[in-house]
This record gives sequence, C-alpha cells and structure tokens, in this order.
Amino acid sequence: MRDLPSYTARGRYYGPASSQRHQLSDYRHILASGFLSRDSTWTSSPLLGHFERETETGAWNPSSVVQWGCVMPDEHVEQTIATYDLIAPDYKLTATPEMRTWEEGSMRRFAGFLPGKRVLVPGCGDGRDSRFLASLGLEITSFDLSPQMLKIARAADPTGNYILMDLRDIETLAGPFDGIHASGCLYHLRKPEFLQFVSGCRAILSPGGVFYLNMKEGQGERFEDRPGPRYPGGAEARERLQGKRFYAYYQRPELLSVLQGFEILHEQKLIPGDGGFEFWVREPITPE
Ligand SMILES: C[S@@+](CC[C@H](N)C(=O)[O-])C[C@H]1O[C@@H](n2cnc3c(N)ncnc32)[C@H](O)[C@@H]1O
Repeated sequence: MRDLPSYTARGRYYGPASSQRHQLSDYRHILASGFLSRDSTWTSSPLLGHFERETETGAWNPSSVVQWGCVMPDEHVEQTIATYDLIAPDYKLTATPEMRTWEEGSMRRFAGFLPGKRVLVPGCGDGRDSRFLASLGLEITSFDLSPQMLKIARAADPTGNYILMDLRDIETLAGPFDGIHASGCLYHLRKPEFLQFVSGCRAILSPGGVFYLNMKEGQGERFEDRPGPRYPGGAEARERLQGKRFYAYYQRPELLSVLQGFEILHEQKLIPGDGGFEFWVREPITPE
C-alpha cells in the first residue's frame, strides 16, 4: 500500500465541526482540483481527507476516506487586503451621488426592519455606511481587515467603534446584534468562507435580528486586476482603484440556499456597479 501525498497549506480548515474532527495528525492532505459541495459550487479548493491507517502496516489507506473538508489558503484575503490598503486614499471616488442614493435607501430599509439598535457593519471600508447608520440613531460596531481603510474611517468618526478584524472571524464577536449590514464585502470571501460567515451571523444575531447583504451576480471565483466598465466613479476610479482583488460570483438560487432558514424580508437586483443581488433577511424568532 503506497503512502498518500501530504499537503500543507497556510490557511483555514472548513469541514466537519472541530468537535467531530480527528487529531490533525490523523489527516493526510491531498491537493485536488475537484469539487467539494453537493452542488459543485466550491471550485478547486484543496481537499483534505481523513483516512484510516492500516492496522498492520500503519500505511494510509486511500480508499478509506472517513470525512472530507478543505483547507482554504489565506492568499486571496492577504492579496485583497493589500490592494485595499493601497487604494484606500482613493476609495472615496466610488461614493458617487448615484451610489450613495442607492446605498442610503438600502440602509433606511434595513433600519426599518430592525428589532433594536445594535448593528454590526462587517467590511466597513472607509466607514461611510457606518456613519450613515449612526446618523439614523443606531449603535454601530464596525470592522475591517484593512488598516488603511480603518485609518480613514476612524479619522472621519473619532468616537466610532472600529475594529481590525477578519470577516472569517465573525464568530469570535460577542453578540447579540439586532442587525448585520454587510455591503460590498462578502464577495471577497471564498464560497465555503461565505457559508461559514452566514452561520456565524446566525450565532450572533438576536431573535428577529436582520441580516443585509449584497453580492455580485455571475459564475465562479477569481482574482481581478481592474474594475469593470460599470464600476462607480467612472474612468478616474477605474484608473486609480486598480489592483488584484478576489471576487466570488453567485447565482440567485445559490444565495437562496445559503440563506435557507432565514425569513426573506425583501430582495432586489442591485442596479449600480456591476450588478448583483441585495437581500434583507431575518433570523426567525423561535418560540421558547
Ligand atoms: C468594496 S469595499 C466596501 C466597503 C464598504 N462596505 C462600502 O460599501 O463602502 C470592501 C471592504 O471589505 C474589506 N475586506 C475584504 N476582505 C475582508 C476580510 N477578509 N475581512 C475584513 N474585511 C475585508 C476591504 O478591506 C474593504 O474595505
């Protein structure tokens, strides 16, 4: 029996809950360009299989996969954040009147659904949405992983609560929050990470809490170097906001399946920018 190839990645594990996981030493990592999910939407992630050892020889038995998970290397996050750090001073170019009208309308709708005032703003960027939500009388906690974006957000709002944090760590936040307003950031996660983010949201939302998100429409996941032709801010923004960023694209049924269990309060097609979807969903209130 041949030994299995071993693969080590600097990244995060997605798969069975850690309580069900065997010791890491029980795993053999294999690099595969296959699909992990039932609906084949998790593309070319390194797969991580848990195999059993042959009792007599101690060799790994390749036909004995007990569990599958995957390791997501961190590169897409590191690269995307490096780009946001570079473009942070020019990011204000995207705040066109058309964009702000649309975004502020979405935030007013979000505020109208909330059961309370505590709101989390993940991937807050330069804090323009956090400031607007605060102006509606809400108590805002914001976070972003780009130190340069946060620097701008804090300078514009010195009393605001801005945290340096990764979207992939959402479950480490102590809730509850009455609302989570995730605009223009979750498409920078790989699909399993997005799934994990949504389950993290469920854990920290209060009963009846509202989750808002917008996502880009399309297929697959990839790095992109240049903003598309409909990027807000016109030619100047397209020129100055270049840099490698990672994007995941979705079809509506995919998003609906991730949001299963939430009550859909409202949804609409995203009009400005490159197109996509907006959802306002509610964590159901479960009877005692
Ligand atoms: C397109 S900007 C949107 C900013 C803001 N939400 C807005 O709509 O103006 C995306 C933001 O997500 C942040 N971001 C991307 N990946 C992240 C991650 N893994 N953790 C935290 N923030 C992230 C970026 O630093 C950037 O500020």
